[in-house]
Amino acid sequence: MRAVPKRPRTDGNMNGFFRDLGEHIESRWAERDFNEGAFANIAQRALEELPPHKHLKPADLIEHVLSGAPLPEQFDLPGSFGQPPITLFVGTGFYIDALFWVDGTTSVHQHGFEGAFQVLSGSSIHSRYRFDLDEQINSRMKLGRLHLEGVELLTRGQTREIHAGSRFIHALFHLDRPSVTIVVRTIGNPQAQPQWSHRKPGVAVDPFRKLPPRLMRRLQVLKLVERTQSPSEYLRALETLLIEGDAETTFYVLQEAFDHVADAKNLEKLWVRATKRHGARIDRFRAVFEQSRRENAIINRRRSALDPEQRYFLAILLNLSDRAQIMKLVSARFPRRDSTDTVVGWIGGLWNTHFLGADRSPFGLEDFWFNKRTGIRWSPAVEKLVRAALADRAAPTEKEARAVHRTLLESAILRPLFNRAKGR
Ligand SMILES: [Fe+2]
Repeated sequence: MRAVPKRPRTDGNMNGFFRDLGEHIESRWAERDFNEGAFANIAQRALEELPPHKHLKPADLIEHVLSGAPLPEQFDLPGSFGQPPITLFVGTGFYIDALFWVDGTTSVHQHGFEGAFQVLSGSSIHSRYRFDLDEQINSRMKLGRLHLEGVELLTRGQTREIHAGSRFIHALFHLDRPSVTIVVRTIGNPQAQPQWSHRKPGVAVDPFRKLPPRLMRRLQVLKLVERTQSPSEYLRALETLLIEGDAETTFYVLQEAFDHVADAKNLEKLWVRATKRHGARIDRFRAVFEQSRRENAIINRRRSALDPEQRYFLAILLNLSDRAQIMKLVSARFPRRDSTDTVVGWIGGLWNTHFLGADRSPFGLEDFWFNKRTGIRWSPAVEKLVRAALADRAAPTEKEARAVHRTLLESAILRPLFNRAKGR
């Protein structure tokens, strides 16, 4: 077996470093007859033996690209995964990318390749999922239940394997701007396609497959009607599309309706019409749209939050689904502090914050107006009620206290904190 190169070529020689890493992986993989099943472990070990995070910083990568140094063939030129991705080495059947991330993404996905990634800079919430299939609609869409199986805080230098197919479904939410990961991956495994992208709580779509042309054009015309015609014309257009819509068409049409029909009664009529044709599928669709709205509200709120702890709190509310997981990640980041005290302090911060523009937005953000909803400002008494709610004590009887309690438990944003389903 080929030994690890003793001295990686240099910190200042990017191509040299990645050539060493790439050639090392290539020779190990050749010894395993380029067996795809062996690749993830080889890639992980190589990243740990020749750790990029010890040899370079994000600024070195930026400098390298801007300086005009030769670059290998660039995969994913449009930058569909990475902001941007930069290919640093191309080997036989695999390549090494640096992926920059500016925005935290909640995309839950699986892979059509084997490999491993290492956090080069920044930190990320790493969530692992399982998908239980209930119904395959067609080759682009399936319905099921997505379960969060485990969660961890990944920091600089940590490395994880990537496996093709449904055995490894994950999401990485990047906490810092930019976050950078080094990914060593095979070019692709045709047997592990499509790379399903999962929308919580349970619709999976193929993100790389175009919709049928007729459906695409109908959705474009629907948008045209929404932008140029009266609300009643728009409703009529939605109804027309729903009358004989297949499941996939209905999903995309209802998504449009959910985003643009402000009148609750009209929206309800559309649900009823779609349910007549598609039954329980429509409840699933609706749960997906509501989840997306909740996620967007938190992402928008987080965008304007400057305090790093508030940003962390919003990120864990966005990614996790129950209290035990939340407390685990609070103590991962602040091991010397009491997690409940920390969370109570964070809720206090949110409670009194008025989010600019929330009153103008028809959807989603009003949930942050805790003190507006209750008419009660944060105080030691409110703090006590929050602690009681987090300890699952029964609702208080006094009127004002009951209003606070209800606001906490009904808050879509805080929902995971009051979910005791299961935690790991
Ligand atoms: Fe991934």
